[in-house]
Amino acid sequence: MKIAVIGGAGYIGSHTVRELLDQGHQVAVFDNLSSGLTQNLFSEASFFEGDILNTSALHSFLSQFKPEGLVHLAAFKAAGESMIAPEKYSVNNITGSLNILNEAIASGVSYFVFSSSAAVYGAPKYMPVNEEHPTNPENYYGYTKLAIEQYLSWYDKLKGLKYAALRYFNAAGYDIKGRLTGLEKNPANLIPVVMEALIGKRKELLVFGNDYDTPDGTGVRDYIHVNDLAVGHAMAFKQLQKTNSSFIVNLGVQQGASVLDIIQMAEKVSGKKVPYRIVERRPGDPASLIADPSKAYSLMGWKAKHSDLETLIETTWKAYQSQ
Ligand code: WQD
Repeated sequence: MKIAVIGGAGYIGSHTVRELLDQGHQVAVFDNLSSGLTQNLFSEASFFEGDILNTSALHSFLSQFKPEGLVHLAAFKAAGESMIAPEKYSVNNITGSLNILNEAIASGVSYFVFSSSAAVYGAPKYMPVNEEHPTNPENYYGYTKLAIEQYLSWYDKLKGLKYAALRYFNAAGYDIKGRLTGLEKNPANLIPVVMEALIGKRKELLVFGNDYDTPDGTGVRDYIHVNDLAVGHAMAFKQLQKTNSSFIVNLGVQQGASVLDIIQMAEKVSGKKVPYRIVERRPGDPASLIADPSKAYSLMGWKAKHSDLETLIETTWKAYQSQ
């Protein structure tokens, strides 16, 4: 299938491009390189530098490439920042996504795979979280993801656009074959911050609270390897083609790891001490957030293969050492 990957020079986007190419798809990447990296691009996929806020750039890209499938991973994703600067999240995440949706309809895209997030659930009412869990986002980033899911369901109803919304839990790790090592600029997520503390790019990791109701008091999350995520995107296209009906699934591994677990694994893998300090909780952080991924398994046969903690940390450490 011809598949356009919007945001394909980014961390998850580039791993998804690699997987789609490996599975024999013809891929074209659209990215404004605001956080994506040219080193994440592959020669087998054509590249169009453009911004999702520029509808004519989107229009010429899609009308030339004429893809049957489209993956949309171009969004700002810092939950904390979204509560301070919601305007930029409204424009980039919502207006940008509506531009992509409208141009996808105009160019006859049939299958739309959307990078959604566990942030749509907000504070969990039960664990592990399945797709029936109430969606009550606690930060504006999560709200933008939920809003786009709702636009998708209207575009399915009104225009017949079939979509898969993939609710990622915590994406982590780097390509197990080492083909992608581009480092995120100014990361906010835990594992890249731990790495920056290890290589001395950052004085220390600040641990946001150790008084949560968790085994060691620090926050527990469901970390999923980016290669497993990428496979989930390829499977989503197969599923859409097979059934021609839209669906929403969690992509997580139903394994919880705390901040201290991550620190311990990073020290074991690197042989170095992680400099860290316990500080106040970060507002809006739930104590734990763990996925129930059984629907992705029953619907698509998707199962994580590389999301054990050691592989997540080892592949990330290798990427940081290679820079
Ligand atoms: C993980 C744990 C923090 C940084 C985010 C966003 C969004 C989403 C997934 C895609 C928490 C603790 C973190 C630090 C810390 N992306 N922490 N010190 O908040 O679970 O969710 O990731 O959808 O980006 O929703 O991820 O990595 O920020 O935090 O103590 O410097 O690490 O309190 O317990 P989060 P995170």
